[in-house]
Amino acid sequence: MKTSKRSLRASLAFALATALSLPALASEHAAAPAGEAWTPASLHAALAALPKGDAERGRAVHEQMFCASCHGGQGQAPTFNWPHTAGQRSVYTAKMLLDYQKRLRLENKGAELMHDIAVMMTPQQIADVAAFYATLPAPRDDGTPRPVAKPEGVSAEQLVKKGDPTRLLTPCASCHGVKGQGGVLEAAALAGQNPQYLVRTLLDYQSGRRANDAAKVMRVFAEKLTRAEIEALARYYADLPLKK
Ligand code: HEC
Ligand code: HEC
Repeated sequence: MKTSKRSLRASLAFALATALSLPALASEHAAAPAGEAWTPASLHAALAALPKGDAERGRAVHEQMFCASCHGGQGQAPTFNWPHTAGQRSVYTAKMLLDYQKRLRLENKGAELMHDIAVMMTPQQIADVAAFYATLPAPRDDGTPRPVAKPEGVSAEQLVKKGDPTRLLTPCASCHGVKGQGGVLEAAALAGQNPQYLVRTLLDYQSGRRANDAAKVMRVFAEKLTRAEIEALARYYADLPLKK
């Protein structure tokens, strides 16, 4: 069955990471302080300072630094709630890798692990792997079980396209694009993203565990969403590449 194959691949990924003696899930992390949060100016400067990325070299980074073992050869993660990186905008990928380096994003053990990996990366490798992910097509149907809750009031499509003025909720599409392709500032591409990951990370913004969004842009929106709306949004974006 699909499930057992997936979990087998997932444990293989972990086994691999450990065999490589990545300092995975090390406990001394608590000591390392988080870096200073971005201001719009410092973020802009850090992203602008990165060298130009090359997708072909990025493919080599993806394979040689074993990103592929967890995020999949084609950027489609084989596990239930790990993010796909395929089709992601290069500016978002680069920002995340800088955030992990600086320990600005540290909501869970996966983020700790990403910190250990990101600190080994040069600015050129960051730029290259980000360029590579941007060339991969967004996953069309990752086979991940869809979350099921249905919101009572506003539908996911309404939230995405119209927002909800009564709660001062800006349409998601105004930053993330009508096709979920991302666009404004470092807003992520969301089309085809793993729906279990999307739910998890929106709940993490909501609780403030994920606090790397500059100017709290996502924390403020996520706080206003109900759990059912979050699940419906995750389904909407996971299925988006299947729509014409
Ligand atoms: C052992 C497994 C593992 C390896 C190896 C790994 N990752 Fe990750 N990665 C994760 C997990 C788990 C997360 C989610 C962490 C979180 O929720 O903050 C993640 C998150 C990310 C994100 C953020 C995605 C998003 O949508 O916000 C990026 C970008 C990323 N990884 C890139 C890389 C790159 C590049 C490499 C190789 C240099 C790599 N990863 C290697 C497991 C891994
Ligand atoms: C004003 C612009 C803006 C609006 C409106 C907005 N976002 Fe975002 N979103 C961003 C930015 C910028 C980021 C990157 C934040 C970071 O650095 O962590 C982001 C990140 C995200 C992520 C994390 C992606 C990943 O791979 O981890 C999700 C999920 C998300 N937004 C969902 C939504 C949803 C759903 C809505 C509508 C309810 C929405 N956003 C509305 C700007 C916006």
